[in-house]
Amino acid sequence: MIIEPRMRGFICLTAHPKGAEQSVKNQIEYVKSKGKIDGAKKVLVIGASTGFGLASRITSAFGSDAATIGVFFEKPPMEGKTASPGWYNSAAFEAEAHKAGLYAKSINGDAFSNEVKDQTIELIKKDLGQVDLIIYSLASPVRTNPVTGITHRSVLKPIGSTFSNKTVDFHTGKVSEISIEPSKEDDIENTVAVMGGEDWAMWMEAMKKAGVLAPGAVTVAYSYIGPSLTEPVYRKGTIGRAKDHLEATAFSITDSLKDIDGKAYVSVNKALVTQASSAIPVIPLYISLLYKVMKEEGVHEGTIEQIQRLYQQRLYAGGEVPTDEKGRIRIDDWEMRDDIQQKVAELWEKATTENLSEIGDLEGYRKDFYNLFGFDIKGVDYNADANEMVAVESIK
Ligand code: NAD
Ligand code: NA
Repeated sequence: MIIEPRMRGFICLTAHPKGAEQSVKNQIEYVKSKGKIDGAKKVLVIGASTGFGLASRITSAFGSDAATIGVFFEKPPMEGKTASPGWYNSAAFEAEAHKAGLYAKSINGDAFSNEVKDQTIELIKKDLGQVDLIIYSLASPVRTNPVTGITHRSVLKPIGSTFSNKTVDFHTGKVSEISIEPSKEDDIENTVAVMGGEDWAMWMEAMKKAGVLAPGAVTVAYSYIGPSLTEPVYRKGTIGRAKDHLEATAFSITDSLKDIDGKAYVSVNKALVTQASSAIPVIPLYISLLYKVMKEEGVHEGTIEQIQRLYQQRLYAGGEVPTDEKGRIRIDDWEMRDDIQQKVAELWEKATTENLSEIGDLEGYRKDFYNLFGFDIKGVDYNADANEMVAVESIK
């Protein structure tokens, strides 16, 4: 079977197993090329199948020879339907980890549920005893709170007033004006319930209670800030409230881990093309201009470069972990550089449908988007039969 991208709006309905495998291999090669990291040896990654979470799992395994357990929510392949990209990524990751003699097991299910937390804790007890690093990298539009049974849906809206600005449809390159209506009160609550820190704290509490956190265990969750251009729809919008909550939760988790000398961090990461960020109006135009400027300045990074740098130059550099005045690790430092933001702001003023492919990196945006689904990956023969090439391991 030949697998091609099939788009519906901002999502791609198909994924390519061989492309996903090659993309995982490329990330592994990158981590190896940067040398060993004196990091954690037993690692749990919650949200391990794509984006920053997958990069974290790869960096732990191939930078520090760590045993990893990955938790994610992905669709396996079915008759006439490809799996979701994260499923292929994880199958490929496990195959490569096992080849390298590294422990790697995965749990596919709803991380927000008590069941998946219990299942994960049991697996840690049975196979690893304890973990010393827990990466929390979930991105989801919906969460059912296991205590209340209420299902919350997150929204990406400004707060207080309508926000109007430019955006781009990255498929067509058309730049247009959009207006986003402000949130209603329970939009904020619901978004905080899904993307805030409550579930992170629940994971840490359950693990501590079960005795599966090693002395000195560290946990890291990922956040975003971004420039004033995107503030109304991001950092000062509903999602920003959730990130404020997540960042505050790091302090309460650290307090709760005092007796085991544990510590919770938030790392603020760079804007990157993901399924989620492609669906937020205004952001794709910002990212396409940002990519252009950062590539020109030689400081562009993808998820693997970001996380490798987080580990090697922040978490495991030796000594105190450097943080900003709010206690956050910053690996968005290059994105936020004054000269970079100045240039992006100038380009933003000028951007039109006619000039965007020149002044912005639409091509790079699209490539990254296709790459998420295993398409347009260097070194893959897309004319070959995809089925024969899948090295699929069973995932629990
Ligand atoms: P992603 O969509 O690539 O990854 C999300 C992961 O969560 C996947 O492994 C998915 O399977 C898993 N997941 C989703 N719902 C789940 C559920 N119910 N149960 C178990 N697993 C579930 O997202 P990403 O872009 O890597 O984002 C990860 C974190 O990084 C988020 O907190 C995000 O806000 C943050 N971040 C993203 C950006 C960006 O530009 N993309 C920038 C900075 C920070
Ligand atoms: Na992730």
